Amino acid sequence: MAVKTKLKNSLENLKGELKEKQEKWTKEWEEAKRELKARQKLFSREVKAKQDEFMIEWDEVETRSREKLDQWLDRFDIDELQAMLDRYKEENEPLEPIGENDVLRMLPEPRKLDMTLTEALKKRRSLRDFSGEPIAEDMVAALLWAANGINRKNFKRTTPSALNWQDVSVYVVQGNGIWKYLPKRHALLFIEGKDQREHFGEIKTWMKLASQHLVFVSDARKTKTFSTKLVQKTFKVDFSEGELNERARAINVGTKVQAVYLAAAAMGLGCTCRILADDAKARQLMKLAPEEKIMAICSVGEKPASIFDHVI
Ligand SMILES: Cc1cc2nc3c(=O)[nH]c(=O)nc-3n(C[C@H](O)[C@H](O)[C@H](O)COP(=O)(O)O)c2cc1C
Repeated sequence: MAVKTKLKNSLENLKGELKEKQEKWTKEWEEAKRELKARQKLFSREVKAKQDEFMIEWDEVETRSREKLDQWLDRFDIDELQAMLDRYKEENEPLEPIGENDVLRMLPEPRKLDMTLTEALKKRRSLRDFSGEPIAEDMVAALLWAANGINRKNFKRTTPSALNWQDVSVYVVQGNGIWKYLPKRHALLFIEGKDQREHFGEIKTWMKLASQHLVFVSDARKTKTFSTKLVQKTFKVDFSEGELNERARAINVGTKVQAVYLAAAAMGLGCTCRILADDAKARQLMKLAPEEKIMAICSVGEKPASIFDHVI
């Protein structure tokens, strides 16, 4: 009996010790987390301050002497600066802001694109004949992810953009209205509720049967960035407006168009790129700002199995 009590007591003691240790470790862990967060905040502030200092100092240095400028450049390793900016984004960039009354529709995991790249490139073509059947949501998700999805921790995308402007947004025009793809949330933001596809289609019999139009919109405001200024100061090349700006934005869209074509080919969907739409009406429906420009449209949809396979 005495042995039993002894054992019970020492078990209780052990339990007590363990609980104490657990509490201590939890406290230490919470403290460590708090410290890490504080350090991250400090680091972000430092990066921001460095960016500002960089621009101010640059102005002064530039007017003083070229020699001084070279010395200054030596102080910063460009990869180091890029890594700092990446980390800054990773830690500070919030999800796309949305209003209280905004409606979001979460997208499913994008359909896996299992076709080899060689095969998808072989199959890529413009197909203008659609059955009219809506395509599955995970396929829409795959098209959007291919065009503008996030494929790294630092929020960079599946497609490149000049100076990482990420100026292009993709809208989906479909039977249940107009939606804007939010890459960080992998969700659709509700824009307009009625079937407005006729304003984005074309006066060709089957083009009207495309179940979805992906509309690529470039925002000029997103091209006026720190990197744009930096390039202007360093290389005396102005990407902030004019011909270079337009060329870069057109290429940014082009990369997305090809990504959609390839994803469509990989999923056996039809796809055709177009640049013509009822611009004024489309802009109004999409509620675009003056700085936003419709650059291209990819009309996508299921291919008809036969001539009798059109849903009208
Ligand atoms: C910028 C651009 C605009 C286009 N505009 C149209 C168009 O308005 N209507 C159309 O049927 N196809 C359009 N296309 C598709 C081209 O006609 C098609 O890519 C070309 O004929 C080559 O055929 P493929 O895509 O099958 O290789 C366009 C393609 C691009 C890249």
